[in-house]
Amino acid sequence: MHYYLADENATLDLGKTLAKLCPQQLFTIHLEGDLGAGKTTLTRGFLQSLGHKGKVKSPTYTLVEHYNLDQRDIYHFDLYRLSDANELEFMGIEDYFHDNAISLIEWAKQGSEYLPEPDLLVQLAYQNQSRVADITAKSELGESVCDKLHK
Ligand SMILES: Nc1ncnc2c1ncn2[C@@H]1O[C@H](COP(=O)(O)OP(=O)(O)O)[C@@H](O)[C@H]1O
Ligand SMILES: [Mg+2]
Repeated sequence: MHYYLADENATLDLGKTLAKLCPQQLFTIHLEGDLGAGKTTLTRGFLQSLGHKGKVKSPTYTLVEHYNLDQRDIYHFDLYRLSDANELEFMGIEDYFHDNAISLIEWAKQGSEYLPEPDLLVQLAYQNQSRVADITAKSELGESVCDKLHK
């Protein structure tokens, strides 16, 4: 599915919509796109929709920020600065992917050998001053979310 995101609010809204459709199950979203394409902005909308108030820190140095919202664990990863994928093993990454946990992962390719396959892939790109997004289902669960996005 292709979306035109005219401004920052449109990116936030897409994140909010996705959050509302996420099932109460282990669910993983990979966010792709150049620096500044809107990955963290979309995550901010997602978190706000589940009740997060306040800032959303970019986990560039910490690799992951944890949120407990709506009785769910949400993990926001940014692996841009990951220099050695083994670090993910050392931080016990497999414990993050438990029942009912949602993960939004920026720069997932940097650590793909330690990450579960995504349910959804969100690809963000620049279009002049605005952005575009392509959302692709990568699992059956992801397909059920995409079906609802259509409606
Ligand atoms: N649809 C949009 N149109 C124009 N600017 C946007 C849009 N979505 C987000 N932005 C802006 O672009 C920047 C994106 O930054 P960020 O979300 O941190 O990108 P990333 O995490 O992909 O590096 C922010 O300044 C944000 O306000
Ligand atoms: Mg970011």
